[in-house]
Amino acid sequence: VGVGHDELDVTDPESVANIPAGRFGGIDWCVNCAAYTVVDKAETEEEAAMAVNGYGVGYLAGAARLAGARLLHISTDFVFDGSATEPYEPDAPTNPLGVYGRSKLAGEKAALANDPGAVVVRTAWLYGPQGKSFPRTMIQAHAAGKSLRVVADQVGTPTCTLDLAVVLANVIEANIAPGTYHAAGPETMSWHEFAERAIKVGLTEAGKPAEVSIEPIGTEDWPTPAVRPKFSALSFRRLAEAGIAPMRSVDESLTDFVRRLPA
Ligand SMILES: NC(=O)c1ccc[n+]([C@@H]2O[C@H](COP(=O)([O-])OP(=O)(O)OC[C@H]3O[C@@H](n4cnc5c(N)ncnc54)[C@H](OP(=O)(O)O)[C@@H]3O)[C@@H](O)[C@H]2O)c1
Repeated sequence: VGVGHDELDVTDPESVANIPAGRFGGIDWCVNCAAYTVVDKAETEEEAAMAVNGYGVGYLAGAARLAGARLLHISTDFVFDGSATEPYEPDAPTNPLGVYGRSKLAGEKAALANDPGAVVVRTAWLYGPQGKSFPRTMIQAHAAGKSLRVVADQVGTPTCTLDLAVVLANVIEANIAPGTYHAAGPETMSWHEFAERAIKVGLTEAGKPAEVSIEPIGTEDWPTPAVRPKFSALSFRRLAEAGIAPMRSVDESLTDFVRRLPA
């Protein structure tokens, strides 16, 4: 059952109470994809971010428990400060750098505190065939002949939503133990490398020579209101140990993504 924002406002306890009331039917799992995700705007809208990403998750977790269901909550690599040099494991110390990350960390704690069966899955650098995404913007800008400059000193794990959906379904299917897990793509790279990889796949799929050169820039050349972690790669290890298959290579996922992009 897919429930949109118009049907269920996670910041409104009365709205969330419709879950244990059975309004959406009998459920085994409640998957929370709702979030306040405007990372830069969150710096000046802390209450709004906390309402959705923090308190709202607590309401959902309590509702899932009352409904006899388990909460599967989606969180983020932005709970980390980026000082690591190896992909983060789920039990690595958190230290969010901004309001968005702090609000998401509050949500993780609320999920685990209010539903003993809750599962928190942190993911990162999402892109998918629907809506705007970084690789789509890069492919389109390159096709339009724009000269591109992309940050090369922020490193993470690009993750295709098509692959994340499969992992989440497998997590549910496996009735995985409660706790925190990391689900991200298998390759660690900078935004600059990710842009080049995406454009190359786009060119190959268009039957053109896969040649691209993008100007690498530093974070200081692309200032943003919210500070981002320099390194936020996530390790899939704990999910793999639970028997969940890892995601496809970045090029395989990008190819699938490009083929599904609306014309
Ligand atoms: N995008 C990334 O790179 C990334 C990376 C790591 C983790 N994540 C996590 O992945 C999850 C999904 O992110 P996303 O990028 O898909 O976000 P998104 O595109 O911004 O979608 C968030 C959704 O939440 C809904 N929503 C907002 N406030 C709500 C409320 N009060 N009640 C119910 N629904 C509400 C929004 O509906 P409206 O549009 O109608 O407001 C929207 O459909 C989030 O938990 C995010 O923290 C994302």
